[in-house]
Amino acid sequence: MRLVLLGAPGSGKGTQAARLKTYLRVPHISTGDLLRAEVAAGSPLGLQAKEVMARGDLVSDEILLGMLKERFSREDTRDGFILDGYPRNLAQAAALDELLAGLGQKFDAAVQLEVDNELLIERLAGRAQAEGRADDNPESVRKRLRVYDEQTAPVIEFYRQQGQLTVVDGVGSLDEVFARILEAIGAGREVG
Ligand code: AP5
Repeated sequence: MRLVLLGAPGSGKGTQAARLKTYLRVPHISTGDLLRAEVAAGSPLGLQAKEVMARGDLVSDEILLGMLKERFSREDTRDGFILDGYPRNLAQAAALDELLAGLGQKFDAAVQLEVDNELLIERLAGRAQAEGRADDNPESVRKRLRVYDEQTAPVIEFYRQQGQLTVVDGVGSLDEVFARILEAIGAGREVG
């Protein structure tokens, strides 16, 4: 199964991708996690990305594509993946199509987790307290939501027009949302 998980900051992409990874037995590729690992390692790429991420802006398409190409060159992505956090703008959507076409692949579904802004802000404020992620402060959260509306929403519209989009209600318990995703992608409960 090749899945693209879309949704605003705090919609539950990372949380559900971790479950889907175990269930579908495919790797979870989170561009946010890849970038945070670079920041933590203090690599040149991480140093470039750190401030951009902290203020809630998008890191450059070029950096993201390089990272993604490297990740997709690894053997474990051959039979499936859950892509979380990419694409975030129309240029990235085109780059993803091209990258996958070059590998002779196509994604099976783009799943958008839908959660209203009030709840997103509440969840991220909760995580700010629990984990202290650098970009979960109120100002960066506002920026991330704005960037999502301006740059990522068009990707969702594009996939909708292409008939590739499945919208899933992201409000509810973790189990409820997980069950809805499985139903949406046609993955039977008996698998795994
Ligand atoms: P990224 O790491 O992708 O962050 P994000 O999209 O802002 O998403 P989050 O991790 O905040 O939310 P999520 O939807 O994964 O929800 P989660 O499961 O964590 O990106 C970070 C930054 O990296 C970007 O701002 C950008 O700078 C850069 N970047 C990344 N990709 C890029 C790209 N392609 N191009 C350019 N730049 C890029 O859940 C959130 C919280 O809610 C958690 O505390 C969780 O426990 C809780 N929660 C989840 N589900 C539920 C539920 N059902 N009920 C109650 N609580 C829940």
